[in-house]
Amino acid sequence: MAADTPGRDPVETQETLSNLLQETRKFAPPAELAESANVTAAAYEEAAADRLAFWERAAERLTWDRRWDTTLEWNPPFAKWFVGGKLNVAYNCVDRHVEAGNGDKVAYYWEGEPEGDSRTLTYADLKREVSKAANALQELGVAKGDRVAIYMPMIPELPIALLACARIGAIHSVVFGGFSASALSGRILDADAKVVITADGGFRRGAPSALKPTVDEALKECPDVTSVLVVRRTGQEIDFNDRDVWWHDLVDRQSEEHEPVPHDAEDPLYILYTSGTTGRPKGILHTTGGYLTQTAWTHHAVFDLKPETDIYWCTADIGWVTGHSYIVYGPLANGATSVIYEGTPDTPHKGRFWEVVQKYKVTILYTAPTAIRTFMKWGDDIPAKFDMSSLRVLGSVGEPINPEAYVWYREHIGGSRCPVVDTWWQTETGAIMISPLPGVTAGKPGAAMRPLPGITADVVDDQAQSVPNGGGGFLVVRDPWPAMLRTIWGDDQRYIDTYWSRFDGMYFPGDGSKRDEDGDLWLLGRVDDVMLVSGHNISTTEVESALVSHPKVAEAAVVGATDPVTGQAIVAFTILRGSAEESADIAAELRNHVAKTLGPIAKPRQILVVPELPKTRSGKIMRRLLRDVAENRSLGDVTTLTDDSVMNLIATKLPSAKSED
Ligand code: WT7
Repeated sequence: MAADTPGRDPVETQETLSNLLQETRKFAPPAELAESANVTAAAYEEAAADRLAFWERAAERLTWDRRWDTTLEWNPPFAKWFVGGKLNVAYNCVDRHVEAGNGDKVAYYWEGEPEGDSRTLTYADLKREVSKAANALQELGVAKGDRVAIYMPMIPELPIALLACARIGAIHSVVFGGFSASALSGRILDADAKVVITADGGFRRGAPSALKPTVDEALKECPDVTSVLVVRRTGQEIDFNDRDVWWHDLVDRQSEEHEPVPHDAEDPLYILYTSGTTGRPKGILHTTGGYLTQTAWTHHAVFDLKPETDIYWCTADIGWVTGHSYIVYGPLANGATSVIYEGTPDTPHKGRFWEVVQKYKVTILYTAPTAIRTFMKWGDDIPAKFDMSSLRVLGSVGEPINPEAYVWYREHIGGSRCPVVDTWWQTETGAIMISPLPGVTAGKPGAAMRPLPGITADVVDDQAQSVPNGGGGFLVVRDPWPAMLRTIWGDDQRYIDTYWSRFDGMYFPGDGSKRDEDGDLWLLGRVDDVMLVSGHNISTTEVESALVSHPKVAEAAVVGATDPVTGQAIVAFTILRGSAEESADIAAELRNHVAKTLGPIAKPRQILVVPELPKTRSGKIMRRLLRDVAENRSLGDVTTLTDDSVMNLIATKLPSAKSED
């Protein structure tokens, strides 16, 4: 595609999103994996023949106290799944495995950041600890339906706290431990939480990092919180107030018995706040039966989890939905053995992740493109020092994975033998929606491929018409799915406006997508990030991927800046690979590379080499701030940045910004 004349025939430029990136590599599933895969191609046919019957069979993998009467009640856009059914999530995740004789099986290998600091929890241990914690919460007066805010480091008490809430029907609201006091108080107030569970601190980047002072600060604004339950993790000095109680004082003296009562399939399980790109955080509400059904089934299908032999590691923080669904609920419902790691990947050295893979003989690894690109930048020699031959399936989530990052992950982490599953989903969807199946799909680097069986995702143009193969547009979901959000906590209208108003009768996640010539799906980032260059809608993802495919580039972020001639012009911020030198003509070299890969229309006006990119705490690039830089505006809100000194570093690079046309 090489049409780049401004003012060209408008009829030809009406496509919703240009399809520029061509990718021909394809990796068939390993024969051995395909032969014994948990899920085969038949699942697509079964679900297409009867979607509700398909999800009923998935629900039957759980243990229900009472079977449901109606599989789906759909009053658009409000869904109820497995209506009339009753179950206890904690029982499904813990007790039933002990009852089945698997009490000695490891649920979690926990690895603290300080080396040598580790703990192993079997399913029997987990049952005892969750029961004690459930008794403790009840002693604090927490009852079914009450909200409990959780602000903790990645220690075993974190999943225990979630499961204790689930057991008694309290609604947890986990706030990521990196958030500020005002973010925490805003979320506590919005959900009207009664109890907060926290710790003195956790270990990050080789040092204790305090949490309790942030809770104290936040609670100045939250008079309705009656108790704060505090785990001692780091031993650092903290203030202790009247409402504070040590976990080891309260929980340790509780009975190890706790009867799990059945909850309604539609009782709330948790609230998790998502900020998205704009506006006040939204409290995404998930409920019980449908959520557990889809997280458990997708974990079984997408990772081909064999609970008897696999060691599964999802590197996300439990503070994000990835951790909720794929460290806690999905894996435990399936009786998996998982690894949990407390710290950062570069502590005490840049090979820490691979050391953990080697130590526990991890077989399934689930991580994010931002981490993968960081590992690429650090160099191939680091993972090469470790024995990672145990790995058999690799997963990616959180952002589009650039083809180059995918291929690097496959080769340098997966030894070219493991399929990579690029899983698309959101906090709102609760569970994976679009992904390859590792024993079925011949994966393409950078593509999430197909909606999972039972999921009716589609790509439409701005008139809500399905785009043909080769076309681009908006991702939508046509039918309700079991793990979908039920509403935004306390704000049904905002739920309707945000997700169900753009296209009549369809869920709109806010992402752009294209369907390639084979009908496979590629996710192209948030539609808010799409650039309009000379009448073409160009996705930032495609230009970033073209840049990352250059051997000197480790990471790239692209934005559209106002341009008098083209409407918007492409400005690229790039980080070079560890080994690459910054040469005088690197910008020209990269611009030509993009023009060659995607066509002249996608050639960036400017390329800036920077040391770091601004990212949210969950690792997503904040293009909004880069747009401010590219347009010489003062910076907008930087409070969700992981590290706000990054913007100063980038600003120092600006004088070298030249327009190269
Ligand atoms: C947004 C949701 C899903 C758990 C972590 C993020 C982007 C997520 C992919 C993927 C392309 C992806 C989307 C989505 N995203 N996974 N595999 N390919 N984009 O949850 O914070 O709610 O973010 O992340 O833009 O809408 P979240």
